[in-house]
This record gives sequence, C-alpha cells and structure tokens, in this order.
Amino acid sequence: MSNQNRSFTVAIVGATGAVGETMLSILAERDFPVGKLVLLASARSAGTQVDFKGEKVDVLDLETFDPTGVDIALFSAGGSVSKEYAPKFAAAGAVVIDNSSTFRYDADVPLVVSEVNPHAAKNRPRGIIANPNCSTMQLMPVLAPIHREYGIERINVATYQSVSGAGRSGLEELGRQTAQLLAFQDIEPKKFQAQIAFNLIPHIDEFLANGYTKEEMKLVWETRKILEDDSIQVNPTAVRVPVFYGHSEAVNIETKKKISPEQARELLRAAPGVEVVDEHKAGGYPTPVTHASGRDPVFVGRIREDFSHPRGLNLWVVADNIRKGAALNAVQLAELVANGG
Ligand code: A2P
Repeated sequence: MSNQNRSFTVAIVGATGAVGETMLSILAERDFPVGKLVLLASARSAGTQVDFKGEKVDVLDLETFDPTGVDIALFSAGGSVSKEYAPKFAAAGAVVIDNSSTFRYDADVPLVVSEVNPHAAKNRPRGIIANPNCSTMQLMPVLAPIHREYGIERINVATYQSVSGAGRSGLEELGRQTAQLLAFQDIEPKKFQAQIAFNLIPHIDEFLANGYTKEEMKLVWETRKILEDDSIQVNPTAVRVPVFYGHSEAVNIETKKKISPEQARELLRAAPGVEVVDEHKAGGYPTPVTHASGRDPVFVGRIREDFSHPRGLNLWVVADNIRKGAALNAVQLAELVANGG
C-alpha cells in the first residue's frame, strides 16, 4: 500500500457518530485518496444516507457487512464494537485505525500521535493501530519536544473536558439540560453522572481500585507508551465541563534540565501541530470557543515559570477533542498508512 497514485477503499465504522461524521469531513478536506467509501453503523441507522463530497452514501449495517476488500478501516463506535469487529476487519486484510481504548495498551498494537511517534505505526503485527485518548492526544505534540530536549520527570494535569467527548448523546444532554434549566424545568441526568449544565463533574469513565478514574489512568499509560519512557510520572485529574467542543488542560511539568518560559515558547513555536497563543492581556490565551473548536492545531498559552519549584513550568493546552483529539489524528494515521508508513 505504498504508492502515491493509488486510491483506497475506506470504511468508517460509527459513521453516524460525532467522531465518525468529522472523520468524513476531514477525509474530504484533506483530499484523502478515497476510491470507495463504506459507511457503517448499527442497524438503527442502516438505510440512512450521509453526504460525502456532494454525493449521498448509504449507511450499512456493520453486523451483516463483509469486510473483504477494505484497505483502511477507521473505527469509532465504542469499545465493544472494536473488540468484536476490528480483528475481523484486520483478518480480512484491512489496516484498522481504532479510536477506542480496547487495544491501546497491548504491546503489539502501536499507539500513535502523527506528529510525535509516526515511526511506531509501521510495526503493527495485528493490523491495528490505536488512536490515543483525546486528553493524551492534545498533550503529546506539546510535551514531546520538551521531553526530548529537557527531559520531563513529572506531569501534573487537570483536564476540563467537553461533552462532545461523550459522543452525540453528550452534546444533546448539555443542550437539553441548559434549555430545561433556563425554562425553570427539572432535569434528569442520563448520559452524565450528575447535572452537567451549569456544573462540572470530576468523574469520567469508571473508577479503578487506586481511586483514580480510567480516564485519568489513560493519561498515565498513554503518555509513557507514546513518549516511550516508563519513568515519566503523571498525576492526572479528569473533569467534565459544560463546554460543547474543545478540551482544555492545566498542565504543570517538572523537567530534568530547567526550561524557561521563553525557551518553551521558542520550542513550541517550531513544534508541528502546535500553535502558541501566549500574550499577557485579555484574550491572549486559547479557549475552546475562541480558538480550538473546529480547528486543527493544539493551542498552548499561559506559559509561565512554576515559582514553587526550581524546574517547574505551567502551560494551558486547548484543542478540539473531536478533531485533533480523535478524527483528525485518525485520518493523519490513515495518511501514514497510505504513504507506506
Ligand atoms: P448508530 O447511529 O446507528 O447508533 P457517538 O459516539 O456519537 O454516540 O456515535 C457512536 C457511533 O457508533 C454511531 O455511528 C453509532 O451508530 C455507532 N454504533 C454504536 N453501536 C454500534 C453497534 N453495535 N454496531 C455498529 N455501530 C454502532
């Protein structure tokens, strides 16, 4: 699959979801060489149609679909769907790019951020490449260059994660609760564990035995795997906030060699996929709405020395969780595969 002029049969599993829909528009935007496009979802959506480059494409039922002939399959339909179907697509010859956490921690499945460790995508004995979790994804293009030059010993991170990370039903729940509360009606949490409108919730994914949530531990496991350094200490807190699109992260790092804010800005200005927005004035920092939503880069600002630690640095990192945090990186990985990587 390494020639420049060929086109690919691309399947999107979960094509009707928040991430699947964005995968489609990014494939079109980036003019990915799609020969044939196969859109798959559950029986609920089979028979509906979705637009791709001005043409209507039928959505098919995953359960009855034969994957023979698919070159690249982008999966974003949840962990149980990936677990059952990703190996079937890989066995039929497809390279699977999986957005769920099902295979991320398996030693024989590469976990890849396109700007950071593209070399890892080449070694995929099971035919599966895992897309990192959104909160790790946006952190890596920022921290990788710092780790390479200054050595990161420890990361303290608190996330502020938008509801779109929980899929279409997360978006609907924030919209519905907001409207209901403004109309003085009662609300009933369904998707989230507590009221999400005008509130925030320090609980994403399940609780684990160590008292952290799985969403938090993803930051620990995935950072070490992507940066290929198990010595990095990560202390995360993951919080769901009433924002529709765009995750933010308050990040504190301790490095082996001291890095000044100016050195960090210079390094990050040259980092692929990163945009520095860091002025000491109103609006001189990225926010989900003003900078990240609907855009590709990871934005970083509020870069300042940690005055409580001799080798500490603070950063504020914001990105569109559906784009760089999921769909964009998946398409970038498909491009790597298409180019022989
Ligand atoms: P469907 O629309 O038919 O339910 P989101 O993360 O935004 O909720 O989207 C999840 C995506 O995964 C949707 O496209 C959804 O399809 C799809 N999906 C969920 N469960 C299954 C399943 N069992 N088989 C195939 N697709 C599924």
